[in-house]
Amino acid sequence: MTRWSHRHVLDLAAFSSHDYATVLELASRFHALPTAGARRLPALQGRLVTTLFFEPSTRTRSSFELAARRLSADVQSFSPASSALSKGESLLDTARTYVAMGSDVLVVRHSCAGVPAALARDLDQAGERVAVLNAGDGLHSHPSQALLDLFTLARHFAPEAPSPEALRGRRIVIVGDVLHSRVARSNLWALSACGAEVVLCGPATLLPQSFADFVAAPPPGQEHDPIAQRGSVRLERRLEDALPGADAVMTLRLQKERMRQHLITSLESYHRSYGLNHQRLELCGKPVPVLHPGPVNRGVELSGPLLDDSSCSLVEEQVRNGIPVRMALLYLLNG
Ligand code: CP
Repeated sequence: MTRWSHRHVLDLAAFSSHDYATVLELASRFHALPTAGARRLPALQGRLVTTLFFEPSTRTRSSFELAARRLSADVQSFSPASSALSKGESLLDTARTYVAMGSDVLVVRHSCAGVPAALARDLDQAGERVAVLNAGDGLHSHPSQALLDLFTLARHFAPEAPSPEALRGRRIVIVGDVLHSRVARSNLWALSACGAEVVLCGPATLLPQSFADFVAAPPPGQEHDPIAQRGSVRLERRLEDALPGADAVMTLRLQKERMRQHLITSLESYHRSYGLNHQRLELCGKPVPVLHPGPVNRGVELSGPLLDDSSCSLVEEQVRNGIPVRMALLYLLNG
């Protein structure tokens, strides 16, 4: 089953249909394992996974660390505030220090787009065998989040056999701050690769028209698209136009920390136009699941009652699914 060609996982634009199927199949197997009793698999015994997070995280970091432990890997955790970075050590030298201690996988998050890829290139050039896994870089990419979103949707549509095919022809509406969202960008590659119809919805300040062509060509530096035919991408400005016919709705966090100008009038006006609640969700015309990568601005992107309603909110399910998906990625990168 497993034919895996990636030394690093940096961006889903390079993923083939087989790659998505492999990750989902492995994640399904790990998901089916009991979570009590003998929880650890020996697969990565003797391996060392290092989490290098230069930006805050609750979900991604803990989930990778738990995933590594469930595969019996040793785990090392780096915190910038208490590190030698403050004494002037460079990011590359910091990474090489962990590699010298025997790290097999560096899980890297950074506020600047391209840092994990630059580290991977420099470490490759230095002849190091370590794998780099992008845990979110600036506005660019968050591959493991999009893969766990894909797994969550595939499990929702085809619980017995979650695969990329479960997404074919499904209309997935992504609402909100697309401009600042690495999650939306990675989901655009993943969902379109699986043949979904993606509808992006938001005001022009948070959703530039150029996103309609986001997956039309591979990103700079990548020669060809491994997907022969991608699903469609459409933009809508009003939630009332985006929701009818949707099969799932993914809401995005308003990333106030990345906004350099006032791009919305107020949080209240944003919620009035783009916030999701039970009443709005009825515009879909049928019961549909709601996703959010977290952290949620409660009462802004999602009303509190909708967020807490487990009959339609998959937010906690996404968190749970992050563990088997990240186990799959760590397993694959460790050959
Ligand atoms: N979704 C996500 O990346 O959450 P964290 O910032 O908590 O890791």
